[in-house]
Amino acid sequence: MLESDIPVFAIDGPSGSGKGTVSRILAKRLGWHYLDSGALYRLTAYEAEKQAVVLSDEAAVAKIAGSLDVHFSADNEGVFLAGENVNDAIRTEACGNRASKVASLPAVRDALLDWQRAFKKPPGLVADGRDMGSVVFPHAKVKVFLTASVEIRAERRYAQLKAKGIGGNLDAIFNDIRERDLRDSARSVAPMKPAKGAVLLDTDKLSIETVVEKLMNLLPDSTV
Ligand code: C5P
Repeated sequence: MLESDIPVFAIDGPSGSGKGTVSRILAKRLGWHYLDSGALYRLTAYEAEKQAVVLSDEAAVAKIAGSLDVHFSADNEGVFLAGENVNDAIRTEACGNRASKVASLPAVRDALLDWQRAFKKPPGLVADGRDMGSVVFPHAKVKVFLTASVEIRAERRYAQLKAKGIGGNLDAIFNDIRERDLRDSARSVAPMKPAKGAVLLDTDKLSIETVVEKLMNLLPDSTV
């Protein structure tokens, strides 16, 4: 299979839009690879904190991004940093907020670009993030931008954290999400916005299964 023929399903959208959950299901159903690009920004933020690197030191943070020793488990549920399972540690709201600060640094985005593109392997890739369809995979076969209201996203996030035993405060999560949306949409490099040609899907009133069905229907028959 030619590199250019490997299909990419780019799923972008804000935190809590459901993209992580549906992307994993979709990748499993299709038997494709999966890229959780947000995890790379979260891991960079996590490691920077561990090494006591200040986020304003762009070169030092970019160096961390470019040298992360990361391994994703085959079921995509575990993230290992230098052999340690950090999946829960990087999913906290605090780490998400730090990730969004790290993600506004151009040198960090540069350091992660080729690495993200290397996830594209046969038979295909489901890529989840903010700039999958716009910057990382501009030639993706299908591009989707999932949205949902801030209220619904905060409730989903709250339930997700509770289920993991991490806990959280709904009002604080609501404010965090709004702040993060603003930062992700306003940054000068790769701002969060629907890619050209992306299908917009509001998931407010849709179940996960319905979203997955709608996404599956976007794939041309020749791809599946
Ligand atoms: O998707 P997730 O919430 O894990 O992403 C964490 C943060 O990483 C986002 O708020 C965003 O700032 C950043 N991010 C990004 N580009 C991506 C994926 C995530 O800027 N492709």
